[in-house]
Amino acid sequence: MSKILYPAQRKYLEFHRKKEDKLIVEMEDFAEKHHVPILDWHSVEFVENLILAHKPDRVLEIGTAIAYTTIRIARCLDKNSRIHSIEKSTDNIKLALENIEKSGLDKKIKLIQGDALSIMPQMKKKYDFIFLDADKEDYKKLFDLSMLLLRKGGVIVIDNLLWHGYAASTSVPPKYKNSTQHIREFNKIFILQKNLHSMIIPIGDGLGFGIKK
Ligand SMILES: C[S@@+](CC[C@H](N)C(=O)[O-])C[C@H]1O[C@@H](n2cnc3c(N)ncnc32)[C@H](O)[C@@H]1O
Repeated sequence: MSKILYPAQRKYLEFHRKKEDKLIVEMEDFAEKHHVPILDWHSVEFVENLILAHKPDRVLEIGTAIAYTTIRIARCLDKNSRIHSIEKSTDNIKLALENIEKSGLDKKIKLIQGDALSIMPQMKKKYDFIFLDADKEDYKKLFDLSMLLLRKGGVIVIDNLLWHGYAASTSVPPKYKNSTQHIREFNKIFILQKNLHSMIIPIGDGLGFGIKK
């Protein structure tokens, strides 16, 4: 969990964390060891609850990485519901395909290989739920494309909107200055978006949550 909570609260929440199964623990360990940024455990639990409550037929994830959240979402979907996930890194695609196979959920998950910026404009069918978790400098373009693909009443979730705490900090290390600027500009657009009920939830690394009006 990143630096948006006080350590005592973080420890308390971690103490109450549910035990995950072998594949999920393996994927978390792999991600930590190889520095693959996957969704924080608290945020992914929240996303699972959203899926269970909203019961989407069609889910789109932008940024699969090793398919950690993809698999966790797929597990919560109804029998005939599907998740499509877009990934552009060939290394991550290989790992994602291996993990999807291990999960036994390959019928529910379709991995779309390539850059979402060129794939999404070709997509025609709307989605009930979109999870955006890709390169921060592309968030604005990917968000606009997502809004075109999200049906009315559909839910959009966007990760990293507090960006390790830097979005709201006056002291940002040089390495994070550019990405922090992108996130700050994006947050204004996200919150002021007219056709979306939107908010930023302070869990994990800050989760944007919106319902299309
Ligand atoms: C933060 S990771 C995704 C983590 C994943 N959603 C999870 O929670 O398990 C971001 C991933 O998005 C991919 N990505 C970034 N920009 C992309 C784009 N424009 N199209 C497709 N994939 C993209 C990166 O290669 C990386 O694997």
